[in-house]
Amino acid sequence: MHNNMITHEQLLPSIQFYNVISEKDPLSLDSYIAALPEQNLSGDTDSIQLSLDIAISNYDEITDKITDTDAVAALRDLDFLASSLLRHNIDPLQSTKKLGHSLVRLALRAQTIPRGTVYTYGLANPANDRLRTFTGSNEEKRFISAVKQSSLALEVSSNILSDVSFEKSSVIEISSALEEVARGCNVATQSIVDVHRSVSPSFFTNILRPYFEPLTINGRQFMGAGGAQMQLLSIERMIWGLDNKDDVYQDYFTENIEYLDFNQRQLIQSFSRKNNDTSILTFSRNINNLVINETLASTLKAIRKFRYPHKRVADNNFKIRSHDSVGSGSFKPTILDHLLFKTESMIEELTEHENKF
Ligand code: HEM
Repeated sequence: MHNNMITHEQLLPSIQFYNVISEKDPLSLDSYIAALPEQNLSGDTDSIQLSLDIAISNYDEITDKITDTDAVAALRDLDFLASSLLRHNIDPLQSTKKLGHSLVRLALRAQTIPRGTVYTYGLANPANDRLRTFTGSNEEKRFISAVKQSSLALEVSSNILSDVSFEKSSVIEISSALEEVARGCNVATQSIVDVHRSVSPSFFTNILRPYFEPLTINGRQFMGAGGAQMQLLSIERMIWGLDNKDDVYQDYFTENIEYLDFNQRQLIQSFSRKNNDTSILTFSRNINNLVINETLASTLKAIRKFRYPHKRVADNNFKIRSHDSVGSGSFKPTILDHLLFKTESMIEELTEHENKF
């Protein structure tokens, strides 16, 4: 293959990591998970329970041999089964002896939380006939594909952004890292527009969303897969969040950070360590460089361009839910307004600044 044909996606170790996971079936569950949508549809909880019992006994046989990629694949599959039982009002942690213990051991091996996340639902989900779904519907398949495409693009953006060093990177390098973020956000925008067109609010709210309820594991609540776990969390941390004093934002960040995978959490740490906990926004305020200000403003505009259609999708869903409903991450939808408000204020500040030159 010609060199320019190789994309960032193919080169990035963290994406290869998820490609490997998506190929895996460490608990030999392919056929059981293929039957899951039918069982969910008919409410056949006995069969789902049987699959979960088989999963746990298969895990018992391989516990000591399990690799980190096996562990993420196992968490993915256990989450599909456990969340399905929960959807039908059976607490899988109560009904399945050893489930809690197994999830915690797998989490230690995978260095993640003890259940599936937006990454096991999207990036680590196999393609084609091995695709894991709760409902088997085209709408869910489109939804998974949107989540996957956005995660792929944002994974590239967050890796490139975390390489920025205020001491060592040139203005051009910092700007092109910001442009990469804008590119990633544009993919997320296309994905949400596709979801807006192809996934109806009644399907998402009434059929799919009930599979993303919190699970209580060892006395702690862990949220189901949700957008707040996506890499926009780490990207914004580096762009403006590290040294931001807003309590609502800080609480939101703290709640969600542990749902990122090990590598994604490391990216924030590495950026923050080498740049003394300073965000790109603060750096740009300090050096007052026209090119960086402009690129930062257009990157924030790309984030804003994702947030408006996403908010429309969320609003359309919340219109048909009771007024005290929360998202999969347990946040009130007002968090979306808050993030939008922050994005708008930063754009305003940067563009005012630009006008002074
Ligand atoms: C189709 C129905 C969807 C609904 C109802 C919805 C709703 C929400 C809600 C309520 C939040 C706030 C956090 C929480 O409590 O979970 C959120 C956050 C988020 N969602 Fe979605 N979402 C949907 C689809 C998507 C899709 C397809 C994507 C990606 C392409 C996505 C990406 C995000 C992101 C990145 C956040 C973090 C907040 C932000 O950065 O603005 N969502 N979503």
